[in-house]
Amino acid sequence: MRKFVVLGHRAITSADFKLDDLCGSTGRLDILLRCVNSAFFLSHAIRKDVEIALMLLGEPNPPKTVRIDGSEVKYLNPDERSTAALIRNALLQKGEGERKCSPGIYVSERNYREVLSNISKESKIYYLKEDGEDIRDAEFGPDCTFVLGDDQDLTPEEEEILMDYEPKKVSLGPISYHADHCITLVNNELDRRGPGSG
Ligand SMILES: C[S@@+](CC[C@H](N)C(=O)[O-])C[C@H]1O[C@@H](n2cnc3c(N)ncnc32)[C@H](O)[C@@H]1O
Repeated sequence: MRKFVVLGHRAITSADFKLDDLCGSTGRLDILLRCVNSAFFLSHAIRKDVEIALMLLGEPNPPKTVRIDGSEVKYLNPDERSTAALIRNALLQKGEGERKCSPGIYVSERNYREVLSNISKESKIYYLKEDGEDIRDAEFGPDCTFVLGDDQDLTPEEEEILMDYEPKKVSLGPISYHADHCITLVNNELDRRGPGSG
């Protein structure tokens, strides 16, 4: 299973936003929406063996974690607007614990440590960072989780928490790429290695 955790440092945590203004009024939720595209979409299919946790850390109700499971997800389309509508629906769901909002889409108030803690029980954690080990030289088992920032790098506090889970730092090269492009590059690298690698 291949997983991605994306930290949306300012991403809005209420459903009070307009689908027509995703760049301006959502704390850059648009970046996370593009990450969803990169994580799941193949030319004519959705990746079933991928999961993404979007950590929405902006105002007014942080944290909110939206988890999308490729093995179950339905109604996911490549346009950002319709994915934004699915996430807006998730943000409307009240309750406790992790709630299913639509097929394959779950919302919770799990914080970053809780998300990492859950994932680390069954998956090796990798920290995507420009100065890490070249991904081409890194080894990957069948269960890999990649943690990355949105348009901002992880804060020192977020890095410190991540270190508790003994991540391996891997690089896609010295140039800084957009978060969604990083996901595409990771998917490509692991796809080329074949089954058994992420
Ligand atoms: C758009 S970047 C964040 C800001 C960027 N580091 C900068 O200097 O503007 C988003 C995230 O993608 C990941 N990332 C970007 N380029 C990378 C690379 N070459 N190798 C590994 N991870 C990278 C990092 O996790 C980063 O926090």
